[in-house]
Amino acid sequence: MHSTMAKEKETKEKGLFVGLAWSCGDMKLLLTFLFFLCSLATIIQFHPYLTSVPHTTTLLSCLVPPTPEPTANSSSTSVATTPHPMKRDQMGPDSVFKRSFNPIGSAAYLFIQMSAYRGGTNTFAVIGLASKPLHVFAKPQFKCEWIDNPDNGNGSSVSADGYKILPDWGYGRVYTVVVVNCTFEKPVGLNSLGGQLVVHASTNGGGDRDVDSVESFVAIEEEPSSVNGSVFTAPPDYDYLYCGSPLYGNLSPQRIREWIVYHVKLFGRRAHFVIYDAGGIHAAVMDVLRPWIEFGAVTLHDIRDQERFDGYYHNQFLVVNDCLHRYRFNTKWMFFFDVDEFVYLEPGLTIDSLLKELEGYTQFTIEQMPMSNKICLADDKGKSWRMWGFEKLVYRDVKRGIRRDRKYAIQPRYAFATGVHMSQNIAGKSLHKTEGRIKYFHYHGTIANRREPCAEFSNTTELRFDRTPYMLDETLRRLAGSIKRFELKTIGDRLVHTRQ
Ligand SMILES: *[C@@H]1O[C@H](CO)[C@@H](O)[C@H](O)[C@H]1NC(C)=O
Ligand SMILES: *[C@@H]1O[C@H](CO)[C@@H](O)[C@H](O)[C@H]1NC(C)=O
Ligand SMILES: *[C@@H]1O[C@H](CO)[C@@H](O)[C@H](O)[C@H]1NC(C)=O
Ligand SMILES: *[C@@H]1O[C@H](CO)[C@@H](O)[C@H](O)[C@H]1NC(C)=O
Ligand SMILES: *[C@@H]1O[C@H](CO)[C@@H](O)[C@H](O)[C@H]1NC(C)=O
Repeated sequence: MHSTMAKEKETKEKGLFVGLAWSCGDMKLLLTFLFFLCSLATIIQFHPYLTSVPHTTTLLSCLVPPTPEPTANSSSTSVATTPHPMKRDQMGPDSVFKRSFNPIGSAAYLFIQMSAYRGGTNTFAVIGLASKPLHVFAKPQFKCEWIDNPDNGNGSSVSADGYKILPDWGYGRVYTVVVVNCTFEKPVGLNSLGGQLVVHASTNGGGDRDVDSVESFVAIEEEPSSVNGSVFTAPPDYDYLYCGSPLYGNLSPQRIREWIVYHVKLFGRRAHFVIYDAGGIHAAVMDVLRPWIEFGAVTLHDIRDQERFDGYYHNQFLVVNDCLHRYRFNTKWMFFFDVDEFVYLEPGLTIDSLLKELEGYTQFTIEQMPMSNKICLADDKGKSWRMWGFEKLVYRDVKRGIRRDRKYAIQPRYAFATGVHMSQNIAGKSLHKTEGRIKYFHYHGTIANRREPCAEFSNTTELRFDRTPYMLDETLRRLAGSIKRFELKTIGDRLVHTRQ
């Protein structure tokens, strides 16, 4: 028994040695092995195969892995790294095979930073993706460090523990979304020197306690005198800001055209729309966005590169958190819903009057009205192709007892991270009873349909279709005329020839 354990320990230590040389991990263990390492480095110098290793045996050269020599023909030579040694099974007592496992490399990045923003004089949010198994099954840590730019040869630094938020409810795939909240005891970087926020991300063992790898990265760089601390308390530029989800697929330019003009009219001139392109903004969709970008109502972000990192729905949770922190001080309210959803206020309410009434809440959620994506009025048959989506799709799914998704709005200054259907990281109250004041109509499956949606026609106010009961609901149809006139008045007739 004893000898097996000793052998196991020995094998582990061998593995640990390899891990250390390459990852520069745990400092305590490192020091223990330092002497050994340095002697080895001295020997390596004289080894003919490795003459490319720098000849200085300083502490640094022991810590930095040797860079492989660029070879004249890299395709024909093998990679110049030492292979991990093979692990062998051993025979234990009672003829039991002691099996071993040989971990090699790492499969998912420790952290993929998308963005980082100041959230006040002493606080920052760093937004990114991280290996989901690491975060679900282990306790990786983030440490934050603020380093002032050197002034007369001195760059002072302060540190704080990063507080991590996982806002995606376990929906992640290879990667999960992480918002690291770095809050320092005192204001940092307001001395007009500028400086850097450096984050130290560590696996902290990561399920396998042998290896603690730490990676550091610069999350934010501030130029001297670039920060004005009063923006965090100044009134915002906008009252309402829409944070979109990643747009993907073969989107219908006409449906996007209808959605934008509808909401520009609803939210008014003190609103702004932020749209994230995950591959859905093809040339014809860009044509319907362009007038609104020029008008100043829309900002478009190209996030196509996120597709390399496998997360939930084109990294939707990543994008909404980026939007929250990026525009946190630019708007009073932030809305989160999709481009196949149309927010509606009951008669007598305006967006200003409603949100004045809800000012005491940090968050409120909005009830869904699911609409059929194919049933139209018999009267519209033959001319439906000329009509707008919310004008012709007038049958509402009234099946009872189904839990339906909600959408929501928040006052972002009191939110620290956010989700798709609501935020769970806010200070202040949430309101869910908003029925009779605000709701949204959801035209599921219409946004990436390039064909005429009307496929069934009805002349009754109630019907059953596919075992689902529907009722005629012309609420948005009645608004179509005024929305079309608003478009012409605001951006002219540039979009009248848009195709589905
Ligand atoms: C690299 O090696 C391949 C095959 O060994 C050879 O065809 C090619 O010409 C070489 N390229 C250079 C740049 O030497
Ligand atoms: C970080 O968390 C603290 C405490 O919850 C909060 O006051 C601060 O606003 C947060 N910072 C950011 C950037 O969200
Ligand atoms: C550098 O920092 C040290 C410690 O914070 C301080 O004692 C010293 O005065 C600083 N020197 C300069 C030139 O600012
Ligand atoms: C900081 O911003 C406020 C308003 O946001 C402005 O009045 C002030 O002049 C700014 N200060 C500097 C130094 O730019
Ligand atoms: C409604 O449609 C049905 C069949 O589609 C037809 O038989 C009926 O006459 C129509 N009723 C009216 C009032 O148009």
